Amino acid sequence: MSVELKQQIDRAVSVVRRRTSLTPQVAIILGSGLGALASEVSADAVIPYGEIPGFPRSTVEGHAGNLIVGRLEGKAVAAMQGRAHFYEGYSLADVVFPVRVMRALGAPVLLVSNAAGGINRLWSSGDLMIIADHINFMGSNPLMGPNDPDLGPRFPDMSQAYEPELIALAERAALAEGIPIRKGVYAGVHGPSYETPAELRMLRVWGADAVGMSTVPEVIAARHMAMRVLGITAITDMATGEQVKTVTHEDVIAAARELEPKFIRLVKRIVKEMT
Ligand code: HPA
Repeated sequence: MSVELKQQIDRAVSVVRRRTSLTPQVAIILGSGLGALASEVSADAVIPYGEIPGFPRSTVEGHAGNLIVGRLEGKAVAAMQGRAHFYEGYSLADVVFPVRVMRALGAPVLLVSNAAGGINRLWSSGDLMIIADHINFMGSNPLMGPNDPDLGPRFPDMSQAYEPELIALAERAALAEGIPIRKGVYAGVHGPSYETPAELRMLRVWGADAVGMSTVPEVIAARHMAMRVLGITAITDMATGEQVKTVTHEDVIAAARELEPKFIRLVKRIVKEMT
């Protein structure tokens, strides 16, 4: 099984390598409604997920499906425009496969983004949050099954999943760009139904500041492979559990698109300052 995984990674890598020889310094995952950063990348190759064996394709509106390898702010990057989710029916191992491929292409850093509901009562829709830590409430783990020790350890440490140096860099970048920034805990849930008020109140008591349906699996896989991780969350709705407030996917996408210019400025600055 793990031999198979390595072969699958190799196959995907060789397809990408036929299109570009760039070695990405940063792997980027663009979340719901945040795909426009891809057009800022001066692309060496734009590869639809359908052409890369093993890449799961997102069926969700707001998620294009392209791997873009090119340059951003002077750095070689591999950017995923759209991602697959657990709730689409993929296994978490499938969901994180592209992260494994970007790692195998050479990327030592993962910059992962998402849209999420804001649980922290002091925050607002439109805020950006640096992920300080996460809660895996998805009921599964991408590392389930046999472990390949060449990829990473059986029991990876998660005590500093989000690298303090990268968090500090992101805070400095936000300050330099004049972008107010939050920092907090992201709770990853299974979805696709949004949370009930009781679930939201529970998540807050547990210490979550935001809730979404992605990111946690990719970060676990990245840490498994010893990648340095930075997470940025776009707060697209307030999900505090106190008032009856409905949320729709259309609202989420619209809010993400609205804050997207700010998100793009922040990510470009972060990538520029990265060493
Ligand atoms: N809950 C879960 N996932 C989300 C939300 C939310 O309120 N908003 C965007 N993604």
